[in-house]
Amino acid sequence: MSENKRIVSGMRPTGPLHLGHYFGVIANWVKLQEEKDCFFFVADWHAMTSEYTNPNRIKGFVPGLVKDWIAAGLDPEKCVIFQQSKIKEHAELYLLLSMITPLGWLERNPTFKEQRQELTQKDLNTHGFLGYPVLMAGDIIMYRPYAVPVGKDQLPHLELTREIARRFNHLYDCEYFPEIQDMLTAEAKLPGLDGRKMSKSYGNSIMLSESIDEIMPKVRGMLTDKNRLRKSDPGDPGICNLFPYHKLLTDPARLPEIEEGCRNASWGCVDCKKVLMESLDRFLGPMQERRARCSDQDVADILHAGNAKARAVASRTLEEVREIIGFED
Ligand code: TRP
Repeated sequence: MSENKRIVSGMRPTGPLHLGHYFGVIANWVKLQEEKDCFFFVADWHAMTSEYTNPNRIKGFVPGLVKDWIAAGLDPEKCVIFQQSKIKEHAELYLLLSMITPLGWLERNPTFKEQRQELTQKDLNTHGFLGYPVLMAGDIIMYRPYAVPVGKDQLPHLELTREIARRFNHLYDCEYFPEIQDMLTAEAKLPGLDGRKMSKSYGNSIMLSESIDEIMPKVRGMLTDKNRLRKSDPGDPGICNLFPYHKLLTDPARLPEIEEGCRNASWGCVDCKKVLMESLDRFLGPMQERRARCSDQDVADILHAGNAKARAVASRTLEEVREIIGFED
């Protein structure tokens, strides 16, 4: 496959994936694996930038993340699935890129400023945390992709990636690293159960691996149109938190009926939630079957094979980079 069809993306192993991850990022990956030359990886070193006191926790989340990917439909026959820390070239490229990255670019990075303020329980005054986008730039340009499919929150990092790549090309008088394009997921965002962004730390998520028995009480507790106090009050799907779920999960042929029933008060929120639970069951059931079929040994085999493929590309990149800089063996 030609290099201009290549895409790269990664996720930190910080816990089980939820529906927000699925509709925000993974659904896009699953589609892309059919059309592109895809490299998807577990960004365990990135997890270390904020969880460095807990490496065992990170390690513990790696197999679960790969299983969630397989459950969601990634197919190791169609894409390369690998683990960042097993490809030492990522560390070498990170080191070289860190030499040419001005501190100001990192200090100005909005994600850095925001996270340092928000994650106050952790000491993030570290070199590694500041350098997060440099490591990420290396992860990406290592494979010389044309695009990186990520959520909107990652765009400042991609901007920095482009700047670092441009600076490399400029300083060493080459055109080695391509200009990376953003590739945002087109699907509508799914809000959390309480209407805020779906996030594990808010406790408002439905995990891909959760059983329907665990999900039921969550759906029952979901906020609907708050002006609709009684079943006889007409509701507004436009402000109900359930409706975005129906739009993504329920058979589209049923949507007009659901919308009408809400607006003319012919059916209540309880009915609506029942339908949503059926939709969730239908959606998550096949994923959970795939997950159950993927053993720890399967995960080890998938990563072993994927790491070898990633390493082949990465070691070639580093050979070329060393040559460009003038450090060839
Ligand atoms: N920063 C990404 C996240 O938090 C993870 C990541 C690391 C990544 N390296 C990457 C994503 C390279 C895309 C490409 O989810």
